[in-house]
Amino acid sequence: MEKSSLSVTQLQHPQSRPNQSWLKTWAVVGLIGLTALFSYLPGLSYEGFREQYYDVLTSGAVRHCNRRSGSPYGRFPHPDDPFRFIPCTNATLPPALDDSEPEKSWASLFDPNPDHWSWGNATVEQHVSGDDPYAGRGIYLCGYLDVPLDYTNQSEPRIVRLAVTKYQVSGLARADAAHFIAYVNPSAGRKSERTIVIEPGGPGGSGTSYAWRAAQDITKRLSDGKFDVLGWDPRGVNATSPSIACFPYNADRDRWAMLTGQYREVSGSPEAQLELADAMNNATFRACWEKHDDLARFVSTAFVARDMEEIRKALGEDELTGYLVSYGTGIGQTWANMFPDSVGRVILDGTEYVRDHRLLGGFGWTALDNATDAWRDGFLGECLNAGPKYCALSQPRDSETVTLQDLEIRMKKLVVSISQRPVPGYIESSGPSIITYSALVSAIYSALYNANSWPALAQMLYELEAGNSTLATAFLDRSEWEYDPTLPSPPSPKPSTDELGSLVICADSYDAPLPPGGLVWWQSLWANMTTQAWISGNSRFFNVFPCRHFNTYWPQPAEVYRGDLNHTLKSPVLLIAETYDPATPLRNGRRLLNEMGKNARLIVHHGYGHSSRDKSTCTDNVAKAYILNGTVPEEQETPCFADEKPYLYGVNSTNINTQAATAADPIQAWREHIQELAFWNPRLLPRK
Ligand SMILES: *[C@@H]1O[C@H](CO)[C@@H](O)[C@H](O)[C@H]1NC(C)=O
Ligand SMILES: *[C@@H]1O[C@H](CO)[C@@H](O)[C@H](O)[C@H]1NC(C)=O
Ligand SMILES: *[C@@H]1O[C@H](CO)[C@@H](O)[C@H](O)[C@H]1NC(C)=O
Ligand SMILES: *[C@@H]1O[C@H](CO)[C@@H](O)[C@H](O)[C@H]1NC(C)=O
Ligand SMILES: *[C@@H]1O[C@H](CO)[C@@H](O)[C@H](O)[C@H]1NC(C)=O
Ligand SMILES: *[C@@H]1O[C@H](CO)[C@@H](O)[C@H](O)[C@H]1NC(C)=O
Ligand SMILES: *[C@@H]1O[C@H](CO)[C@@H](O)[C@H](O)[C@H]1NC(C)=O
Ligand SMILES: *[C@@H]1O[C@H](CO)[C@@H](O)[C@H](O)[C@H]1NC(C)=O
Ligand SMILES: *[C@@H]1O[C@H](CO)[C@@H](O)[C@H](O)[C@H]1NC(C)=O
Ligand SMILES: *[C@@H]1O[C@H](CO)[C@@H](O)[C@H](O)[C@H]1NC(C)=O
Ligand SMILES: *[C@@H]1O[C@H](CO)[C@@H](O)[C@H](O)[C@H]1NC(C)=O
Repeated sequence: MEKSSLSVTQLQHPQSRPNQSWLKTWAVVGLIGLTALFSYLPGLSYEGFREQYYDVLTSGAVRHCNRRSGSPYGRFPHPDDPFRFIPCTNATLPPALDDSEPEKSWASLFDPNPDHWSWGNATVEQHVSGDDPYAGRGIYLCGYLDVPLDYTNQSEPRIVRLAVTKYQVSGLARADAAHFIAYVNPSAGRKSERTIVIEPGGPGGSGTSYAWRAAQDITKRLSDGKFDVLGWDPRGVNATSPSIACFPYNADRDRWAMLTGQYREVSGSPEAQLELADAMNNATFRACWEKHDDLARFVSTAFVARDMEEIRKALGEDELTGYLVSYGTGIGQTWANMFPDSVGRVILDGTEYVRDHRLLGGFGWTALDNATDAWRDGFLGECLNAGPKYCALSQPRDSETVTLQDLEIRMKKLVVSISQRPVPGYIESSGPSIITYSALVSAIYSALYNANSWPALAQMLYELEAGNSTLATAFLDRSEWEYDPTLPSPPSPKPSTDELGSLVICADSYDAPLPPGGLVWWQSLWANMTTQAWISGNSRFFNVFPCRHFNTYWPQPAEVYRGDLNHTLKSPVLLIAETYDPATPLRNGRRLLNEMGKNARLIVHHGYGHSSRDKSTCTDNVAKAYILNGTVPEEQETPCFADEKPYLYGVNSTNINTQAATAADPIQAWREHIQELAFWNPRLLPRK
């Protein structure tokens, strides 16, 4: 599949290449304005400033700032910044753990040319007639934070180096034009009063990638653009070191997933299929152990919660502000009850009940409630409500209007026929292939996460039903594989850190007693889960099945949280749970609320997709009042409804674009869907 990389350079706006003349102008203004700066920014001492930017000031022409010594914004990282932030470029990956002088290596990555940095969209009006392209724009800052590998063992010298990306809404303060910037935006270059710490879930989701993708939207949505947004890669994930992948190449993982990831409905012998998958799980955990030794002992959610607390401390904020999603809500629940006095304004969206994860397989079987409902009432039902102009599957058949019951039967017939015989397909870019039941159902499951993908999926299923598999082939080619054979090789990219997810899930349930009798219990769990939920049952089962082998290699994680979830918190948290969430059913949010009592409030978000991505002005208003003012509703539960229906997003808005709604370019729409999903929850990417 296409790897969903959003490089930092892509985020720069190509139309805004700076015209260098502003540098000269500001050099002059800057020296005059310097004293003015210190009356605007009482926290800054002139001495400190002078020391930091001395070579900038004395270089005369600010053009000279663009040598290694500094920039019009001074030098990074700032001394005493615990995250050692520098403006992100395409090179700012944290130093390796075996680097003997990490700070020096890191500092050498600072690129003084602001043209290479990643700036956000303008957040404040540009009062200036000057041509500084960066005035009023937020900035992406990259940094890292070292934390102990083992919080429970003082004599353990190993560390974890967490990769951190922060979107600073106020942008940066120019060192050469101080009074001017103070006029435009007195807080330029400073952290905001609170920082919204974000976590996308998984386990295994990358918080830095999530920040790249969503920070600007999140600060706007939750704080009117007032608060910075910080994402981190959890231990074991992505740019954090150590990172845990147990295959040397993504191609190897794909190859075996092909064999072991067959769904139960198409396994000639479920017993034989389970033996196969089980042997591979054993081999995979063994590889994790060979490659990463005891690291799996230190990735449990309790340690991730401790990492988040370290991030709060490094931010210098007395209480944490956060927006934690999906499995991120499990981190949030654990953290809040371990550190009740640090809880500030924390939203848990797409709420799990983390207590479930202590049970064997609990991460899987407690997630199944509503995927089938979302398929029937949402994907199919809303399709018919929207009509043929917006959803291909509602086209009349033999001039008869399609009913929900008919459509459900037709689609069931289609997937059953594919389970009996895969459909051949061909596209030029990947040659011959087949549409398999396992791949198709996992693509359907992924679509339920994100209703923006529905018009494209409806078009695909419509054509497939009519005997044309071209679109289906193109979609599955995008969603099935991690290895992209079109990339030059060597150098191969680092393998994705997918195994980390199982290791976290299994560490959290390590002490759940294993049932006797080998695979018998698992066999019935598999049958049970797939009977209960044909769309999500297999995928969720495969998430938890490896746990059978965890204790063989890692007898005991260093710490798991086993306390209650009803501690008295400094402030209540705000839960959001969705009526049609295919991964974190409302029932779980309600059970959590029941345990947390007055320490939480719940928004029951009536909408589609995983977490509250189905926009609701009602939800957003409650969330914003909470993040900005700390206000929570009086009632334990507040119902909120999505503003619009799937297939009809934007249809009633001012610039009516009916084309967009009918998936004008379904392949492009599907590609965007897969990218969106990769950031949110890599482990649930469809696999065979
Ligand atoms: C982190 O994740 C992003 C998005 O999935 C990917 O493009 C990038 O290569 C990853 N970085 C590392 C160091 O693994
Ligand atoms: C980073 O971007 C610079 C241009 O800004 C380019 O010359 C360089 O090749 C890029 N490096 C990587 C690793 O992409
Ligand atoms: C603590 O860490 C040290 C150094 O790695 C190790 O030798 C020791 O066994 C650890 N103690 C425990 C209780 O894990
Ligand atoms: C930033 O600006 C671009 C170009 O105008 C726009 O497409 C994008 O939606 C904006 N992003 C945000 C988060 O406002
Ligand atoms: C896992 O594989 C190892 C060999 O690598 C074997 O000794 C062990 O018995 C296997 N465990 C189970 C539960 O099958
Ligand atoms: C979600 O599943 C529960 C069963 O746990 C059911 O009671 C509820 O009605 C379902 N929600 C929807 C919207 O169908
Ligand atoms: C099959 O579907 C593809 C993609 O939608 C389309 O381009 C092609 O024309 C269709 N083929 C036939 C024979 O209808
Ligand atoms: C699956 O297991 C649950 C819990 O044990 C049980 O309530 C349910 O009836 C089972 N469902 C099926 C389809 O076997
Ligand atoms: C939390 O719940 C447990 C019972 O599950 C109860 O014993 C305990 O008193 C409760 N704690 C608080 C602080 O309410
Ligand atoms: C926050 O409180 C202020 C002062 O009471 C009020 O004016 C503002 O509307 C509130 N903001 C939100 C988003 O509720
Ligand atoms: C669009 O507007 C019409 C007329 O005001 C209304 O009946 C319909 O429900 C609206 N559709 C959506 C998706 O908001």
